[in-house]
Amino acid sequence: MTDPAPAQAMAAQLKWWQKGIIYQIYPRSFQDSTGDGVGDLRGITARLPYLKSLGVEAAWLSPIFTSPMHDFGYDVADYCDIDPLFGTLDDFDALVQEAHGLGLKVMLDYVPNHSSADHAWFQEALKGKGSEKRDWYVWRDPGPDGGLPNNWKSFFGGPAWTLDEASGQYYLHQFLPSQPDLNWRNPAVREAMFDVLRFWMRRGVDGFRVDVIWLLAEDERFLDEPVNPEWLPGDIEHNSVQHIYTQDQPETHQYIREMRAVLDEFEDRMMVGEIYLPVEQLLPYAGTEDAAMVHLPFNFHLILRPWQAQAVREFADSYDAACLKIGTWPNWVLGNHDQHRFKSRVGAAQYRVAQTLLLTLRGTPTVYYGDEIGMDNVRIPLERMVDPAGLQQPDSPAASRDPERTPMQWDATANAGFSPAAATPWLPLADDYQTTNVQAQQADPHSDLSYFRALTALRQQHPALVGGAYHSVDSGHEDVFAFRRSLGGETLTILLNFGAGEHVLGDVAAGHTLLSSRNDQPRSGAGLRPNEARIILT
Ligand code: GLC
Repeated sequence: MTDPAPAQAMAAQLKWWQKGIIYQIYPRSFQDSTGDGVGDLRGITARLPYLKSLGVEAAWLSPIFTSPMHDFGYDVADYCDIDPLFGTLDDFDALVQEAHGLGLKVMLDYVPNHSSADHAWFQEALKGKGSEKRDWYVWRDPGPDGGLPNNWKSFFGGPAWTLDEASGQYYLHQFLPSQPDLNWRNPAVREAMFDVLRFWMRRGVDGFRVDVIWLLAEDERFLDEPVNPEWLPGDIEHNSVQHIYTQDQPETHQYIREMRAVLDEFEDRMMVGEIYLPVEQLLPYAGTEDAAMVHLPFNFHLILRPWQAQAVREFADSYDAACLKIGTWPNWVLGNHDQHRFKSRVGAAQYRVAQTLLLTLRGTPTVYYGDEIGMDNVRIPLERMVDPAGLQQPDSPAASRDPERTPMQWDATANAGFSPAAATPWLPLADDYQTTNVQAQQADPHSDLSYFRALTALRQQHPALVGGAYHSVDSGHEDVFAFRRSLGGETLTILLNFGAGEHVLGDVAAGHTLLSSRNDQPRSGAGLRPNEARIILT
């Protein structure tokens, strides 16, 4: 054993967004304080002590701004106000104050790529070609055949262009027609959108998750995108072309540098960017000593890659090395409001293996609400489906995001303690809420919630899990991913059995077991059981 004090000091030098866990709240589904079936800010404030008890550092709230809610808040009609459904600016200030009092950070969801069509800017732009806000959005004349300007596609199906009949021009929308793309080439747009960041930072906001940040700029030539030869019918239509002119453009990097300069006007703020790209294209977005970019570009690769020990090891090795090489801090994600619940994805048997991985790899973990109690996808009957991504693409059933957005399961009472009993929650509850809920799991030391808390407690007790170096080791078994985290003389070994066989690991597993997903303390050297995750003090 070594003295953990110097290691603790080393880990303490990390910034809050490096050492802490980000917890994503989908506000519609967290806690309804008014009985209208939709979660709200006062509900969240009431649950902040729960967040504290989880051992997380920051709450990221999906959008809470004024919105017609066609995309449930990702269509913002006023960037500097709260939608009445969620409360008021006073409620928001109270939330921030309460969170800060508990030592929690607050992050907002900043949606710069597009506004709502209801935004005053777009309403002004619709007045015609001479409008002073016309150039705040992206307009094109019809193509040579008198139809669409080009073949660009919306993420939610159909073309990325809608005709404004009054002017005869099309406007660009990479999502719904009611989400027109802002024109980031226009410096006045950038200035207005930077003022939005300042507005919230002055109110005490600690950071931002930046929506679809890799889509900000489009190629100015407006050429057709090449057909994707790998696309198969049944896959979402957006994937039928290769997005070489609408994603990851050089100008976007410039806009992000400007955005970062605005964050740096304030102390200790951060931004994490939503970016679905391969690592070679992802890491150029990362902040380093030489590059004032986003502090964390979301790494979604645990979601996108096969759930296999060797595939995960290979990725973790190469990603960790690539981050070290450029001097940026890694991060990891298993779930969010756009992706099916990770428990449903990897299977119930692998749930704790995945949770352990997320909370022990080197880098900031982001946890999606409800994943700490093992919430699954919820099957939504057709008549209750509300997500436009699903409704607009009935031929791609997996496109609906409703299954992962259902109300948080707090207790076994009607409506799971999310809404009062008489209310109808905006999405149906999971069938298993009477057993899978916070209250029941709190009382059970062997529950998923207790396991989650044990993991976050270990992160607090063992700085090696937070700030320590990562290196993987050969486990000798195809199904077992083993790695070590070391800091200041302390080493922890993490053993993850991705398979259903039992494996004897020998020296790799030597040491004292701190935690097993099987809720016991196996002897040193004992075999790693099917689907077991184990953390060992080496
Ligand atoms: C992001 C959000 C998603 C939203 C889309 C459009 O991908 O995460 O929920 O629909 O952007 O804003």
